Amino acid sequence: MKQLSDSFQMGPVTVKNRIAVPAMVCFDWTDDSGRVTDRHLAHYRALAQGGAGVIFSEAVCITKRGRLHNTQLGLWEDEQIDGWKKLADACHEYGVPFLAQIHHAGINGMDDVADCPSDYTPAHAHHTPGKEMSLDRIVYIRNAFVKTALRCKAAGLDGVELHGCHGYLLSQFMSSRINHRTDEYGEDDTLFVKEILESIRIACGPDFCVGIRLAAFEPTMEDGFRHAKALAPYVDFLDISYGIDSDVSGCPADFPYRPSFYAAMKIKEMLPDMPIFCVDRITSGEMAKGALELTQIDGIDVGRGHLVNYNFASDALAGRDTGTCLHCKGGCSWGPTGNPDNPCPGKMRFLKRK
Ligand SMILES: Cc1cc2nc3c(=O)[nH]c(=O)nc-3n(C[C@H](O)[C@H](O)[C@H](O)COP(=O)(O)O)c2cc1C
Repeated sequence: MKQLSDSFQMGPVTVKNRIAVPAMVCFDWTDDSGRVTDRHLAHYRALAQGGAGVIFSEAVCITKRGRLHNTQLGLWEDEQIDGWKKLADACHEYGVPFLAQIHHAGINGMDDVADCPSDYTPAHAHHTPGKEMSLDRIVYIRNAFVKTALRCKAAGLDGVELHGCHGYLLSQFMSSRINHRTDEYGEDDTLFVKEILESIRIACGPDFCVGIRLAAFEPTMEDGFRHAKALAPYVDFLDISYGIDSDVSGCPADFPYRPSFYAAMKIKEMLPDMPIFCVDRITSGEMAKGALELTQIDGIDVGRGHLVNYNFASDALAGRDTGTCLHCKGGCSWGPTGNPDNPCPGKMRFLKRK
């Protein structure tokens, strides 16, 4: 039976235990330069000290124009590498592998007319209009992903996770709701992602871990399964989450964890040798253990639980109370607008550490 405390192999990387810190942007912690600050360094050091098995960095942008917001961390130029070296060193001090989540926001970004698989008129208030990427632009963005991965390698990181879900550019390519191309990037909705993964592998070599955070529902679970199977030969791990307007109806109503875990369990059955992570509302050590035992996946991502308690992983592994994220609707003190009145213990912890 799998235990939370087991270490396991993810390509060239040994993960210390089965509790992972997933990507979480620290809004407004830097400025337009997109460079790592001392606050980031303290944050990631505390997460590493807290005992997680692996840390996925917050989404880091591959081009300045592709940013989600104007204070997002970046690795679009070599001058940004130094800060990432400090983050990697801090995680490695505690023996925790550190991978960057590399990202392009597409129509969820700041560009007036965003890179998009197809011309796009916003269907959501937070979307910008999208312009169909030319074949030259596809090559340019693919190369930008590769250059960012090379900067991660230069900074001493253990690998990268492509941000392939939550409606950002790669998610848009895999979504039939956005991708209406009639060329090969429409015929095979994973082609762009496969090309990026393959190019990173060639550029960074076999000792660099490469994976993807992938929607289990893009928009349906069948699509998610198809994408997982198509991408499996190109990755060392899959990290399962949600897509654009996910249709989770394929998940049985009485499944005891969030729909992402049902889909991740099914993907693990299809791809038994693939390390699979999954996320969504795991709020205690008992829940993490229960989800692991039921699904038999490999890694349990705990996002907001780690913001509430940097020591979530070590507390959960020792059977101690981890504290619980209250899931305050729209008021998360870590969100883009923040909420100074939020009583969240994460906020209090954060204030204490300043
Ligand atoms: C403040 C904040 C920032 C986030 N930033 C990212 C991100 O950069 N990349 C990403 O893939 N998911 C991001 N997420 C989603 C989390 O990784 C995670 O999937 C989500 O919080 C659900 O997991 P949880 O219930 O354990 O918190 C963010 C979530 C929060 C709360």
